Amino acid sequence: MAEVQKSDNPLDDVFTEFLQSPRVFKNRDVLTDRYIPDKLPHRTTQIKALGYTLASILRGARPSNVFLYGKTGTGKTAVAKFVLKNLAAKAKEQGYDMSTAYINCHTVDTNYRVFAELCHFLDVKVPFTGLPTDEVFNRFCTALDEKNTLFVIVMDEIDLLVKKSGSETLYQLTRINTVLEKSRVSIVGISNDLKFKEYLDPRVLSSLSEEEIVFRPYTAQELNDILNDRAHMAFNDGCIDDAVIPLIAAIAAREHGDARRAIDLLRVAGEITERNGDSIITPKHVRMAHDAIERNTVSEVVTTLPIQSKLLLTAIYLQYREREKNDETGVTTGDAYQQYIELCDYMRMEPLTQRRISELINELDLLGIISARVVSRGRYGRTKQITFTVSTRLVHDALSSDIGLKKFLNFS
Ligand SMILES: Nc1ncnc2c1ncn2[C@@H]1O[C@H](COP(=O)(O)OP(=O)(O)O)[C@@H](O)[C@H]1O
Ligand SMILES: [Mg+2]
Repeated sequence: MAEVQKSDNPLDDVFTEFLQSPRVFKNRDVLTDRYIPDKLPHRTTQIKALGYTLASILRGARPSNVFLYGKTGTGKTAVAKFVLKNLAAKAKEQGYDMSTAYINCHTVDTNYRVFAELCHFLDVKVPFTGLPTDEVFNRFCTALDEKNTLFVIVMDEIDLLVKKSGSETLYQLTRINTVLEKSRVSIVGISNDLKFKEYLDPRVLSSLSEEEIVFRPYTAQELNDILNDRAHMAFNDGCIDDAVIPLIAAIAAREHGDARRAIDLLRVAGEITERNGDSIITPKHVRMAHDAIERNTVSEVVTTLPIQSKLLLTAIYLQYREREKNDETGVTTGDAYQQYIELCDYMRMEPLTQRRISELINELDLLGIISARVVSRGRYGRTKQITFTVSTRLVHDALSSDIGLKKFLNFS
């Protein structure tokens, strides 16, 4: 018998183990953001509404601008892409010239970059920086007019553009039809921030939201259907316990009604199952996945906060722990502010105003770490009550990684 050569490549064990371990995934890709579903259950109303609005393209007329809004993971991007894809096919069939541009303002977040990006869609070359923004805008208009087309621009996560660079770009875009002679532009704006309308320039708002389509968070039942469709494509038969999908749907509905988080949870539960060498995904794996994801999110959010927000979060945490000891709940904005001032004092830092701190509390709320609800205190007026929406243990751990804050977290 030939002697088995023992190799000292450390990867040998890893690969052998991987190849021998049970496979739960048939196609992991359908549970990632890259996958674009061709069926969107529970979004028929929104698909039809957007379809009706944009359908005038099929007769060669410019559609109204339309504004889609709802929290993250409610299917806005998926619906917009689905409708535009179908519309472009139909328009071609009808012999109308239509073009679309999809811009994600998460990455394209300055006025210059928006117009440069639009130029790229028309194959007009502009440098990444350097030209005056007006010049880029003019080149875009000229090129677009030459094409003699109906141009639909999807501006996704539009709230991020306005927060970073103001309303100027949108103002120019909503006015562009007065400059163009042959082509026409329609805008599909998408926002995750429901308060977006409050800080948008009213002139821009009124032309941007000629039509509006609202996306509500998904219910547990709806998430159940969405997950079932995906699970069929993603996993081998018999690899998923019957209790798993209802559990994930319930968790995701309770937290945010966010389909992305629900799908992520399903994927990570599958990954943990495979990594453990188990052959069936069970509720135990879901809970492990939930914990892992929450830990990642909290630490990512907390470590990237500016120091003043970290200090504020520490203050809220300390007050919250104090309340918890006495079986009380909820920290008021006032309590948090007092504690924050004390911490600033220790740190020899200039405290921010109470007004600014209120804004930072709203930001922490948007980031999904805390929830700040306005409550009435009878004749004492109204205040905000702050509670944590993620495990306080994880908040503590994430803040502790900051050396300067660690000492506060452990004193009483
Ligand atoms: N009704 C639906 N059916 C199937 N998948 C959906 C549905 N709604 C959302 N998704 C999926 O959930 C994830 C988040 O959706 P997305 O459209 O990106 O949300 P939003 O743009 O509102 O944040 C994507 O992977 C998307 O494919
Ligand atoms: Mg989106």
